[in-house]
Amino acid sequence: MSSPGLQWSSLGLLTFCLLLCVGSPESCDEGEEFQCQEDGSCIPFENWCNTKPDCPLASDESFISCKTHPSDMMADKFQCANGAPIPERLVCNDIVDCSDGSDELPQVCNDNPDEMRQRFRGNCTGDSDLECLPGECVADSAKCNGVIDCSNGRDESLEICMQSCDKNKCFQCSNGVLVDSKHLCDNEMHCLDGSDELLTVCGNAKNWTEVPPAECYETSELLFTNRTVFQMKDSRRFVYANQPAEVQCWNSDRRSWNVCMNNGSWHHEFPPCHEKLINRNPDTNGTNGCPINWYNNETMIIWDENDNSVMPPIQDSRVTFKCEDGLTFLPYEFKDDPITCLPNNTWIEKDFHPRCTKLCSPDAITEMYSLTPRCYNGENGTPFNCKDKYSLIPETRVKFECASGFTHRTSEPMMVKCTEEGRWEGLRDLCEREEKLCNYECNHRLNYSEITFSKGGDPTDSLRASWLVPIYRWNSTTAKHEFACTGNLIRLDIVLTAAHCIKANGSQKEDFLVGPTGNRSDLTIDREHLHKVRHLDVYGAYSEVTHTYDVGIIFLEKRMDFRQDQRIVCLPYSDGSQLSSSGDAMVTSWNSDGYLTTVYGRLSELRNGDLNVELNDDYRLCKGDSGSGVITTCGLDNHKCLVAVISRNVGSGDHGTFCSNNVTAASLKPLPLQDHIQQIIRNNVNCPEVE
Ligand SMILES: *[C@@H]1O[C@H](CO)[C@@H](O)[C@H](O)[C@H]1NC(C)=O
Ligand SMILES: *[C@@H]1O[C@H](CO)[C@@H](O)[C@H](O)[C@H]1NC(C)=O
Ligand SMILES: *[C@@H]1O[C@H](CO)[C@@H](O)[C@H](O)[C@H]1NC(C)=O
Ligand SMILES: *[C@@H]1O[C@H](CO)[C@@H](O)[C@H](O)[C@H]1NC(C)=O
Ligand SMILES: *[C@@H]1O[C@H](CO)[C@@H](O)[C@H](O)[C@H]1NC(C)=O
Ligand SMILES: *[C@@H]1O[C@H](CO)[C@@H](O)[C@H](O)[C@H]1NC(C)=O
Ligand SMILES: *[C@@H]1O[C@H](CO)[C@@H](O)[C@H](O)[C@H]1NC(C)=O
Ligand SMILES: *[C@@H]1O[C@H](CO)[C@@H](O)[C@H](O)[C@H]1NC(C)=O
Ligand SMILES: *[C@@H]1O[C@H](CO)[C@@H](O)[C@H](O)[C@H]1NC(C)=O
Ligand SMILES: *[C@@H]1O[C@H](CO)[C@@H](O)[C@H](O)[C@H]1NC(C)=O
Ligand SMILES: *[C@@H]1O[C@H](CO)[C@@H](O)[C@H](O)[C@H]1NC(C)=O
Ligand SMILES: *[C@@H]1O[C@H](CO)[C@@H](O)[C@H](O)[C@H]1NC(C)=O
Repeated sequence: MSSPGLQWSSLGLLTFCLLLCVGSPESCDEGEEFQCQEDGSCIPFENWCNTKPDCPLASDESFISCKTHPSDMMADKFQCANGAPIPERLVCNDIVDCSDGSDELPQVCNDNPDEMRQRFRGNCTGDSDLECLPGECVADSAKCNGVIDCSNGRDESLEICMQSCDKNKCFQCSNGVLVDSKHLCDNEMHCLDGSDELLTVCGNAKNWTEVPPAECYETSELLFTNRTVFQMKDSRRFVYANQPAEVQCWNSDRRSWNVCMNNGSWHHEFPPCHEKLINRNPDTNGTNGCPINWYNNETMIIWDENDNSVMPPIQDSRVTFKCEDGLTFLPYEFKDDPITCLPNNTWIEKDFHPRCTKLCSPDAITEMYSLTPRCYNGENGTPFNCKDKYSLIPETRVKFECASGFTHRTSEPMMVKCTEEGRWEGLRDLCEREEKLCNYECNHRLNYSEITFSKGGDPTDSLRASWLVPIYRWNSTTAKHEFACTGNLIRLDIVLTAAHCIKANGSQKEDFLVGPTGNRSDLTIDREHLHKVRHLDVYGAYSEVTHTYDVGIIFLEKRMDFRQDQRIVCLPYSDGSQLSSSGDAMVTSWNSDGYLTTVYGRLSELRNGDLNVELNDDYRLCKGDSGSGVITTCGLDNHKCLVAVISRNVGSGDHGTFCSNNVTAASLKPLPLQDHIQQIIRNNVNCPEVE
């Protein structure tokens, strides 16, 4: 797959690109423009490090992009702590010129030192010389000693630590602390913010290895408050090393400060964001009656045997529970069934914990094409099957992994949580970033060469062609779904096939079902394993008369479930390789018994985006093989990929009623078609709506 996001193969490269790849193809003018990391927008070079923010979040003025080596500093300029140069005459003129304010700090301007001390001290008394936050005090010795003591890092901040440097003879960390030049670019960080080892500082240094600047990211549980000054990359917010962040729990007002460390960890652990329903009714804890730990008089009604509503304590009786509309009673087995409270104040059923609750949707977590969910009872809880919908209660955590056929692009945890409102917190965000989290792995472990079966021969292992899916179409004469065509999974929820398969006779999406991968069976189609269609796309250039450009795409309502060793098929544009329109090719599809078989032949190019496949020996393709992928080798490693889909018999305009050993296939070679497929894949992200 190709997309702007995927062209950067790593965060490191992204940062590198920020500085050196300006002018990459789809972006900014080489040598003329600086590219903002927050949104990729371009600004003229002269606005870069000119002390005025031009990028949306001021990344053009960040120390990451402005810090320079002392040998590159201009002797007649004042260097702001973040590295931007300003004319000397602007220093201490009572107007803040540096975007970090360093030109007007009292340490630089020798303003009343007592007043400054007093301000740092705040309400702290005794030996405490610095007030980090109201009520949080640290000793004088904690200031600017290279160790973060304040929960918000104030003791190592620019405000406290600014030192003046004469005539740019020294190197200054972006928090103002001076560092001996001999420590620069020695592959060890001496600045808490890592300024002494930045690419902009050390790019020319010998024996220096770049380590990308540390970034600490916001998570869906811990959100940055509006007091946090953050940066942004790929729509995610973060702060750089030695920068403070105030976060707020997603589910409460609880806030806390933290500081990003130069190894990318937070300085200290965040206090947990707990959310528990508080049941204040003392008669529900099992002392005076049977325990009802989740009792809530607003949402749970208890009926006795005479159909009277009763309140806890429940003693020595048989009762039935009812929940307010929209809530589900758990344990689900006892919904509507009376249960006995024994005289010794215990429920007759062991582990009976009555509860009225919202549930989170199992569909929402299983619909993403590249992410596979694993469900856990709460944080560090035991795992359970995500399809068990009555287990998806609030506090459920879902950890995602890249699905089979994908590889992880990041090591960051991918987790969502079920809220009290029955919503998956963080799911939409995860879904929208899907493309950046997992990479297609279409061409690995496809042992295609081991398939040696032909039509009428032995059935082959469906794993080896696991991208093939049968397409069934409703036949109003027989009032049944019947096998119509073959499709190729190019994403777990997207099937590439022939246009005539889905356009015939004004078919609608409701007429189609797509089978699971593997053997197909007309006789007993297990509905549970068939997929409904969300959308049909017929390539615009397709002609219903000549059947040229016979390419169609089916979007499934739900993605296919894949086993670990199954793969989708590679498309040629995935690796940007030139397509060969001649040479050996193979086509796999189902024989009349429903088993997968492969035939071999030779490709040649025809007019109008068509390829000709002339089959070897006695091989033949028949009706129903329409849409099957024509497989050849692609890329430098000669992996198998799909270059065309079977369209029709040579000479017969009736889209393949008969078998033939000479067939026409719609080529994927035309660039507009490749673009169309990529575009439509990218635009079809089926993320859950925010409620
Ligand atoms: C600091 O002291 C002032 C005056 O004594 C007081 O008004 C203010 O509430 C105090 N702040 C804190 C956070 O204790
Ligand atoms: C480069 O660094 C390594 C390890 O820090 C050191 O052993 C080596 O001598 C250095 N080489 C030069 C040319 O400075
Ligand atoms: C942050 O938001 C709160 C309430 O939403 C507002 O009162 C406050 O002024 C904001 N602070 C800043 C620094 O924007
Ligand atoms: C980062 O550094 C801190 C303190 O130096 C240390 O406690 C923490 O374990 C480090 N984290 C990683 C991921 O190395
Ligand atoms: C239940 O509540 C009663 C009354 O508040 C209290 O005395 C008792 O200790 C509680 N029992 C438990 C098991 O929490
Ligand atoms: C639930 O209990 C609260 C406090 O005990 C009371 O104010 C409220 O009216 C009760 N609601 C219902 C529906 O009984
Ligand atoms: C309560 O009574 C039942 C039946 O009489 C008995 O099986 C159970 O063990 C008792 N539970 C406790 C906690 O005493
Ligand atoms: C693919 O073939 C190779 C070499 O023949 C073998 O080692 C590997 O296990 C096979 N993989 C699968 C998934 O069958
Ligand atoms: C529907 O079924 C009838 C009877 O088997 C068959 O003649 C007809 O060709 C089928 N229609 C399609 C579109 O396959
Ligand atoms: C299209 O529909 C007409 C009548 O609805 C039917 O006679 C014809 O056989 C159908 N053609 C195909 C190719 O299914
Ligand atoms: C397909 O059929 C063959 C032959 O009966 C069998 O060995 C294979 O396991 C089947 N594959 C699937 C996915 O059912
Ligand atoms: C197969 O069809 C192509 C294109 O129509 C034609 O050029 C070729 O001669 C045919 N081959 C055979 C063996 O009929």
